[in-house]
This record gives sequence, C-alpha cells and structure tokens, in this order.
Amino acid sequence: MRDYALVHVNGVRHEVRGREALMMLADWLRREAGLTGTKTVCSEGDCGSCTVLRAMPQPGCTTDFLEAPPLEFEAVNSCIATVAQMDGSHIVTVEGMQCGAELSPAQEAMKTCHASQCGYCTPGFVMAMSAMLERHNGIAQPIGPQLAANYLTGNLCRCTGYVTILEAALAVKATKQHSVARRYSNPAAVQAGIAAAEQSLLIEHDGVCVCAPVTVREACSFAATHPGFRVLGAATDLGVQINKGKPLPRAILSLHLIPDLYEMKQTRNRWRVGARVSLATIRRMCEESSPELSRFLNLFASPQIKNVATLVGNVANASPIGDTLPFLLISDGQVHVASRPGGKGPLRQRTIAMTDLYTGYKTLALEPGEIITHVSFANPEAKEMVRLSKVSMRKDLDISAVSAAFSCTLQKRGRSRKPPVIESARIAYGGVAATPIRLPEIEEALEGEVTAEKIESLANRIADRVKPLSDVRGSAAYRRVLAANLFRRFGAEVLLA
Ligand SMILES: Cc1cc2nc3c(=O)[nH]c(=O)nc-3n(C[C@H](O)[C@H](O)[C@H](O)COP(=O)(O)OP(=O)(O)OC[C@H]3O[C@@H](n4cnc5c(N)ncnc54)[C@H](O)[C@@H]3O)c2cc1C
Ligand code: FES
Ligand code: FES
Repeated sequence: MRDYALVHVNGVRHEVRGREALMMLADWLRREAGLTGTKTVCSEGDCGSCTVLRAMPQPGCTTDFLEAPPLEFEAVNSCIATVAQMDGSHIVTVEGMQCGAELSPAQEAMKTCHASQCGYCTPGFVMAMSAMLERHNGIAQPIGPQLAANYLTGNLCRCTGYVTILEAALAVKATKQHSVARRYSNPAAVQAGIAAAEQSLLIEHDGVCVCAPVTVREACSFAATHPGFRVLGAATDLGVQINKGKPLPRAILSLHLIPDLYEMKQTRNRWRVGARVSLATIRRMCEESSPELSRFLNLFASPQIKNVATLVGNVANASPIGDTLPFLLISDGQVHVASRPGGKGPLRQRTIAMTDLYTGYKTLALEPGEIITHVSFANPEAKEMVRLSKVSMRKDLDISAVSAAFSCTLQKRGRSRKPPVIESARIAYGGVAATPIRLPEIEEALEGEVTAEKIESLANRIADRVKPLSDVRGSAAYRRVLAANLFRRFGAEVLLA
C-alpha cells in the first residue's frame, strides 16, 4: 500500500504525501513546488488560467519511446483537481514549455501577435494552444479558426481581447522537437508510474482519508466499511464545491487505479462505459455509432473539463440539468453498480434503469456501500431520428437552463405526399423538474401521423406538463417556453422537414 501520490512535474518525480496530497493541484504547484506560472482566478474550472498538460500512461503502453512516445498530453484545469487524484500523472506546466532559452511555439506566437496585456491568462492560453499542437501538429487536419476556437473555449481573457489570441493560435507552428510527448516521455519515469499504479494508495491526513484501490472488489470493501464515503471521479463537480467552502469528504474513494474502469466497449448495439472514461473519449468513440451524441458533447463544458470529466460523474451527480441525462433516458440507459456487503465475500452487482435512478432532487436509488462501475446505453437504430438540445446563456462552457432529447422512428413514406407517421417516440427533458424526466404520455400522443397542428398542440401540452423551478439560470415561466420551443424546433427541423 502506498502512502503517497506519484506525480512527475516537468519531468521531475514527486512523492506527495499527507496534507499536500489533499491540496488542489494548482495550489500545490504554486505554493509547494514553486511553479507560480500556473495562475488561479476563478477556482471553478471556468477561466482556464490554471491550465496544465497532463498525461497518464496506461498499463501495456508502448515502450518504443522513439517511434511513438507513450504519453498523450491533454489540457486540464489544475484548480479543481486534488494532487491525490493526479497520482500516476505526468504534468507539464508553463515553466516546462521552453526549450532552453528558446520560447515554445505557442509562447512565441502569443508574443509575436501581441496577444497578452496583463499576462494573467497567458500561461493558460499557452497551455491550451500547446494541447492543440500536441494533437494536431503533423497530422493532415490543418488548424483553422474553428478548431483553434474549440481548443480555446475553456480560456477567458479579461483585457487583451480574443482577436490577437486567435491570430496567435492560427500562427503557431511546431516541429517534432517541440513535441511535449517526446520531451517528457522519459522511459524510467513512465515505467515508474506504471509500476506504482499496480499498488493501492491510502493517504490519511487530519481525519480525511483517500483510498485508491486497484480492483473493484477492494473499492467495494472500502465503501462498505466507510459509511458516508464519496467517490471521486474527475472532481469537476466535487472540486468546485470544495473550493466554494464545502468540507472535504472524510472518506474519499478514487477509482483511478482500476484499469477495467477505463474501458469503453461496444457489444451488439450497446456501449458500456467504465466509470473512469472521460467525456472526450466518449465523444471520439461515438462519432460513427451515435453522431448526435458526439456532436452534442462538443457543447459540453470545455476541453479541459471534458478531457477528465466522466459520464458516470455526470450521472451520479444527479443534477436535473446534467447534460447527458436526457440522452441516457431516451437511449435505454442503464447504471451498473457493485457492492460488497460487510466488506467481505463476493461482489454483489445489479443494474438500475436510468428511468428508475433518480428518486428526488439530487438523490439516487443507490443503496449504502454501492458504487457505479459502468453506464450503458443503446446506439440509435438506423431509422431512428435523434435530436439533442441544450439552451444556456452562452453557447460554450455553460450549464443548461433546459436540455432535451428526442427520438422518433418514422414509418417509411415511399413517394406518398401524406404526412409522416411515427412508429415510436421518446422524449426526455432536463431542467424542468427536480429530476430529469421522460414524458410517456406525450410520446404516446406523438405516435401516428404528424402534422404541424399536432406538433403545436403537443408543444402546449409540454409547457403545461413540466414543473420547472426558478433559479439563476432562468425563471420557471421561461423554462416552460423553452421546453415547448425545443419540441417545436424538433418538429419543424426533423419531423416535418
Ligand atoms: C466549468 C464547468 C463546466 C461544466 N459544464 C457542464 C456542462 O456543460 N454540462 C453538464 O452536464 N455538466 C457540466 N459541468 C459539471 C461536470 O463537469 C459534470 O457533471 C461531469 O460529468 C462530472 O464528472 P466528474 O467525473 O468530474 O464527477 P465528480 O465531480 O468526480 O463527481 C460528481 C458526483 O458523482 C459522484 N460519483 C462520481 N463517480 C461515481 C461513481 N463511480 N459511483 C458513485 N458516485 C460517483 C461523486 O461522489 C460526486 O457526488 C461543468 C463543470 C464545470 C466545472
Ligand atoms: S482558475 Fe479558473 S479554471 Fe482554474
Ligand atoms: S491578458 Fe490580461 S486577462 Fe488576458
């Protein structure tokens, strides 16, 4: 059992124990490691000034370091992740980007394009651009304005303005020698990380313990013997709450050392997604089988959040405005849970339908000691028409006021000019009740011939049926109108088009 988190920062090995392991990574980098280039502004994952690059080698990764460096660096926010959960990671901060006296390509482009004034956001932009170069440099896809904007969605600048920053992102070019993966894929460091990951982790400080076991069985034993434990996914929800003053849970269970939970598998027509699979991975893997989900996930948060945030975390967070929940409700979503009553003996596993998971505002039908190991969902059938929508104050990096998922199977119409006929329909909403909901009576009423009059009448019924709350994201009245209008848009753009 290890009592330290192993992290490599700019190639230097650190064994982080006790109090320091419970700090947020950004605070630890600045206060303990003396790397003050990483800035913190919002401490909520919203501004990107704390962006660093992170790679986590997987067991069995290549050892042919010259041909293919095994580390794949991605941008993450360091303000909402504890050092403990970065265990096994290789982190590169802005201080690690320069090659000797030479600025990195992103630093050089920011300077040449005059893309920095006060400079507080600049390290974050440099790191976000560097993540873009890591993935797109040297491959066929040129970096155009849209791609650059996508990579910078998670970064805010309050004084320079974005025109010059985007110019810098388009101007930046790197050669092989600038590849962060090549520079930091040190064989000894990578192997040390892989070896450490085979050992469970237990860090205790001041009444708080963080346990990271290497099997689901061990995880369930910890859960059974620590009432009130909390699972830590990527902490993009939990970390924000902690930074806002919520105390750290006394018993924290991190699943980051359990290799099986990083798997995303397709069997027959369903995906089964492990608790450690990030939303960015799901977006990439679903491009062909569930293109609407993949498109929709582009609108989810920022690259820094998506690179780590999990689907299971979104489900378990149980927010009525969790963006993936309406999709899971119309896609026969299921939640797979495991427990080990008394902490001994065989695992007990069961499956809960998404439609039965939420029992009230932010409450789940989980029994004490149960953890979610996977979520599964069905791919849409070829003849199914799916539309996922969200309405938020900004298009990017914003939480929904209302979200919706619609799916309809249309009967073949041939050449007839008759109205389309719906064989089956599924409709789900988020943000219109204490939990995400399906609307079975509207689904049933939608079946059969579709006309503009029918769409209008059902839109009005939806507005009457939903019971939203008023909060900072919108009043109840506004949300009713949104719910009805999203359905009208589905009718006009998909069913009657
Ligand atoms: C800047 C920002 C933007 C965001 N944008 C969006 C957005 O556009 N749409 C959206 O829906 N959300 C958004 N979120 C919220 C958040 O990113 C998502 O809910 C994310 O999916 C949570 O995943 P996580 O792995 O970080 O969960 P965590 O924060 O680690 O966990 C969330 C909750 O789930 C529990 N949990 C996690 N894993 C398990 C498990 N295996 N078993 C049991 N319980 C578990 C935790 O105990 C905790 O209560 C945003 C957050 C931030 C900070
Ligand atoms: S400080 Fe704003 S995202 Fe981390
Ligand atoms: S340069 Fe000042 S916040 Fe961006």
